[in-house]
Amino acid sequence: MTLSDVEHKDVIRNHFDSYAEKWSNRLDDYAYASRRDSVVRMARDVKYRAVLDVGCGSGDYVALLAGPDTDYVGMDISPGMINECRTKFPEQTFEVGDAVSTDFVDGRFDLVVCVAVLEYYRDANDIFVELRRLLSSSGEVVFCVQNGDNVSRPRDKKLLQSLGGIFALARRFRGKKIAQSQESKDSRVFHTRHSLDDMISIASAHGFELEDSDYSNCMVLPSFVDRGWGINKMISVLVGRMSLKSLGRRYGTSLICRFSKK
Ligand SMILES: C[S@@+](CC[C@H](N)C(=O)[O-])C[C@H]1O[C@@H](n2cnc3c(N)ncnc32)[C@H](O)[C@@H]1O
Repeated sequence: MTLSDVEHKDVIRNHFDSYAEKWSNRLDDYAYASRRDSVVRMARDVKYRAVLDVGCGSGDYVALLAGPDTDYVGMDISPGMINECRTKFPEQTFEVGDAVSTDFVDGRFDLVVCVAVLEYYRDANDIFVELRRLLSSSGEVVFCVQNGDNVSRPRDKKLLQSLGGIFALARRFRGKKIAQSQESKDSRVFHTRHSLDDMISIASAHGFELEDSDYSNCMVLPSFVDRGWGINKMISVLVGRMSLKSLGRRYGTSLICRFSKK
């Protein structure tokens, strides 16, 4: 079944409303914490006063982007996430809104940060159009997306599927009923991956040019093998410190890229 754009947005809104209270807990996981560090590092290279945090979630970037001399605005399509932000950061400005059409005036922001939002859409063109409109002439945008060149996620999925098949066979031999998989997430929520080439191509079609790019969270070992050992984390730190971009591109799960207006 294909959903209309409005129905799809409702699915996204409900999905994130249901996560709002516990969303920030995932920062205990290195994958999310390292992604946030890379985004903030890249944002700090931009001189900004007015910053828009598009798809701000439960406000994990507020403390890192807002300051006494900044004009921070967090915006999210999920009212649940925005309520959470308003409770946690009553002194900051938050709005419920859709990244494809906002009420802000042209050129309102020097920096736009858009972390883990594009992946919920098959076509992100409308978002690029609106974000470009919102940026000042010297403004820049930092995106974080799921890395389309990453080989470890598809590899781990395949491995787990094969292992699942072996366990299912073993259970069948032992006369046990095979457990039904419990799908807790809404299956209509998908994640689109973007390679750096994809991002450059769509961004340049909308009048942006690449300023910087980085990858975070290298999963060289399958995550279920590395559980608790922290080897992937050590490798990720090394890859970052030594700027080993080709390793990052292959194994990094997140791609972070910064664009300026052409
Ligand atoms: C994966 S979460 C990331 C949240 C936050 N950026 C972070 O990294 O913690 C994606 C967020 O984008 C929001 N979102 C999705 N589509 C959006 C849209 N069209 N406009 C504004 N926010 C959107 C969701 O409600 C959700 O809070």
